[in-house]
Amino acid sequence: MTTRAPAAAPGIEATSLQPRRHLLDLDDMGFAEITTILDSAEAMREVLHRSIKKVPSLRGKVVLTLFLEPSTRTRVSFEQAGKMLSADVINIGGSGSSAEKGESLLNTALTLQAMHADILIIRHEASGAPYFLARSLENTSVVNAGDGRHAHPTQALLDLLTMRDHLESLAGAKVVIVGDALHSRVVRSDIFGLVASGASVTLSGPPTMIPLDLLNPRGAPSLPGVAVEPDLDTAIVDADVVMALRIQKERQDAGMMPSLREYTRRWQINEDRMRLAKPGALIMHPGPMNEGVEITSSLAHGSAQIEEQVTNGVAVRMAVLYQLLQGSDGGSLT
Ligand code: CP
Repeated sequence: MTTRAPAAAPGIEATSLQPRRHLLDLDDMGFAEITTILDSAEAMREVLHRSIKKVPSLRGKVVLTLFLEPSTRTRVSFEQAGKMLSADVINIGGSGSSAEKGESLLNTALTLQAMHADILIIRHEASGAPYFLARSLENTSVVNAGDGRHAHPTQALLDLLTMRDHLESLAGAKVVIVGDALHSRVVRSDIFGLVASGASVTLSGPPTMIPLDLLNPRGAPSLPGVAVEPDLDTAIVDADVVMALRIQKERQDAGMMPSLREYTRRWQINEDRMRLAKPGALIMHPGPMNEGVEITSSLAHGSAQIEEQVTNGVAVRMAVLYQLLQGSDGGSLT
């Protein structure tokens, strides 16, 4: 497969590509590797438009998904991605597996490795669970499909692909991310990918939902390229991309916001606020949405790029599986 040579964003070092065994987050991924994966995803996306949506690239490979937290987009798109590449995909959930009988995560993973799984894709409520497995498994690659509030690297890659599809370059782009950053694994991975691509990130939302280490705008920024502006009407001015985050009720303590009505009044993405952004600014949401809270229904089902994000999720996950597995014995997209 040919890939476009990555043009480094101004001020961004293009790192040399090393074969990667696991995908755990984007914090160790430079612009060159991100570009390679996104270029690969663009090629993979073409398969989605074929009448027969299948290529033989990963024939004979075994892909296991182990989702111990709920998921629609990530789980289904990894399964679809693996099947489109002709891998054998086996799905395991918490319910119905021996995890219900108290089997430890490590013993579950060692059992799956003993079945010669090539890749284990894991979603887990505990931050760090995929890292633990990556350290423990010698023969199986691990992909982080979302761990606690820590990281969600394939969501970040699909977000980057969606932005790249519309913007001439991510270098210099202003991306405003609104809402519950404190509990969001998406925002952490997005920040690494966006900063590596030369974009600037502004977080907006209730101060109780902004990570403490980012909250003091008068102090030295703890993450270069990331700013905090709690007032959304100020933050959104001239934005190229506005992304709403889901309010994660399942991870929140009580009292993090005055009321849903107040949240909606101050931080909802709506038509009036979008007029403050650049004309044609992208509107994104990783899903699932609290429709009518973080974003109006009319934007979510109108000019937003949310369904493009979902489609790009399949393409990016195809690219990730391909990149991780093709290193072992080659492979081709035909
Ligand atoms: N964005 C995301 O991770 O969605 P799911 O929880 O449906 O996988």
